[in-house]
Amino acid sequence: MNEDARGPSPFLLDHLEQLTDAAHEGPILDIACGCGRNALAVARHGARVLGLDRAAEKLHRLAFTARLEGVQMEAIRADLETGRMPPLARQSCGAILVFRYLYRPLGPLLEALLRPGGLLLYETFTLSQRDLPQGPENEAFLLQLGELPRLFPALRVESFWEGRVDQPWPQHLARLVARKPG
Ligand SMILES: C[S@@+](CC[C@H](N)C(=O)[O-])C[C@H]1O[C@@H](n2cnc3c(N)ncnc32)[C@H](O)[C@@H]1O
Repeated sequence: MNEDARGPSPFLLDHLEQLTDAAHEGPILDIACGCGRNALAVARHGARVLGLDRAAEKLHRLAFTARLEGVQMEAIRADLETGRMPPLARQSCGAILVFRYLYRPLGPLLEALLRPGGLLLYETFTLSQRDLPQGPENEAFLLQLGELPRLFPALRVESFWEGRVDQPWPQHLARLVARKPG
């Protein structure tokens, strides 16, 4: 499935006000943003957003849409799986978004990029997704039940949920809201 064929995540939309507040402290970084279905939704609320992905064509599409709409967006091309620091300062991000992407070793980097008091919003598939017809099947991209908060030991969990949603399409998801102690 084209991940951008659907609109922003309802989980993201539920936290737009918190993200707008967080953006007063630093930009909102959308990790593995794709064409920016979530990054654009936050930028439309007036926040400055950094969209990071390794796919140049997706970033071009994101930058084009952002320009067209006149929203604040910086597209950053970087590969998150090389072990090298992306071109971002430590403790600079007001919030970090991660949707439909999992690379377990990234936990410490994301913790380091958040400002004290900064917010992490994370939503991706759990292993149960393999029982459904669509979505990833490789375990490397699927969370074990209860695993997501354990990837961020330096953050304080504000909410954590796992379960099935049927709209806009059937998904088994984990959703985490966590904050860096300030
Ligand atoms: C399933 S898409 C999710 C896109 C977006 N977060 C969303 O929810 O619509 C996964 C994205 O991760 C990006 N990606 C995969 N591996 C990456 C890596 N090593 N570094 C940066 N981005 C990566 C892909 O280019 C793709 O845009």
